[in-house]
Amino acid sequence: MTVNLDWENLGFSYMKLPYRYLATYKDGQWQEGVLTEDATLHISESSPSLHYGQQAFEGLKAYRTKDGSIQLFRPDENAKRLQRTADRLLMPQVPTDMFVEACKQVVAANHEFVPPYGTGGTLYLRPLLIGVGDIIGVKPADEYIFTIFAMPVGNYFKGGLQPTNFLIQDEYDRAAPNGTGAAKVGGNYAASLLPGKKAKTSGFSDVIYLDPATHTKIEEVGSANFFGITADNEFITPISPSILPSITKYSLLYLAENRLGMKAIEGDVLVDELGKFTEAGACGTAAVISPIGGVQHGDDFHVFYSETEVGPVTRKLYDELTGIQFGDEEAPEGWIVKVDL
Ligand code: PLP
Ligand code: COI
Repeated sequence: MTVNLDWENLGFSYMKLPYRYLATYKDGQWQEGVLTEDATLHISESSPSLHYGQQAFEGLKAYRTKDGSIQLFRPDENAKRLQRTADRLLMPQVPTDMFVEACKQVVAANHEFVPPYGTGGTLYLRPLLIGVGDIIGVKPADEYIFTIFAMPVGNYFKGGLQPTNFLIQDEYDRAAPNGTGAAKVGGNYAASLLPGKKAKTSGFSDVIYLDPATHTKIEEVGSANFFGITADNEFITPISPSILPSITKYSLLYLAENRLGMKAIEGDVLVDELGKFTEAGACGTAAVISPIGGVQHGDDFHVFYSETEVGPVTRKLYDELTGIQFGDEEAPEGWIVKVDL
């Protein structure tokens, strides 16, 4: 059973659901997490997450299948990425079992908000790990909060499988060559707000960032990874230490090779060689697969497949990925985790 919402037109907006998970880390260990109806965090004004950005987040989704059951897509991979991010920012790791169990609890407690099968909607989960407590020097916190809240969402980019245009701005980077680009920390997104606003004000969906050292290679979109398809049946996605290791991207690399018989490559994507791609897209949990119509770079506007039509390979990848996520296609071992209601 679900509540009554306009499931087909959700967009990507915050909605306060009845329950969220909350656990605290004190005296060197995680305390038992609880589900709470309190959607407000009560933390010290001097918390290192507020001043020095000692925080991390994740994003994953729960999907309603045709038979009405609910499932998560590769939550263990989000747990592992949060652990790598935690290591980078000297925060305690959230164990994988605790992370996945917390996701299941939040989904089960809010199950009426998981959109019905066939509406295209999903329940987006936002795990958040923050350093808290009375510390003012630049050093790691002694105490942490790990919380997961959720909300039903639809398309992140306008139109979903509808192509949209993206902007490359040489004057901005989202991350430094040896910085925190590969970690899912708020600071990367803070750095992307101004360039993102400029892009959106000019009618683009988002920014495509170049590698911060040479500005010759495509790195990723502000909120998703980049992929391109070549006429030689290759699926190519950038390799770089300063982009977020996208779980969707790694899933697509696997599916392109093993289900679509393509050559799947993580390699350099030179911004001067966009002509070799017959199709391109942005991929991520929120973005799913969003076709990239064209890219503006200085005076050059490059169209990949079409500004209005989704390319055939992008569509096949989309169908395969979402087919697995919604339970219509057989999933590779371990990709799907059922939620008990
Ligand atoms: N790159 C950035 C900057 C992101 O914010 C996201 C979203 O999580 C991704 C890539 C895609 O990662 P994933 O597929 O794990 O959601
Ligand atoms: C996600 O896809 O989960 C993201 O984190 C992207 C964006 C909403 C920041």
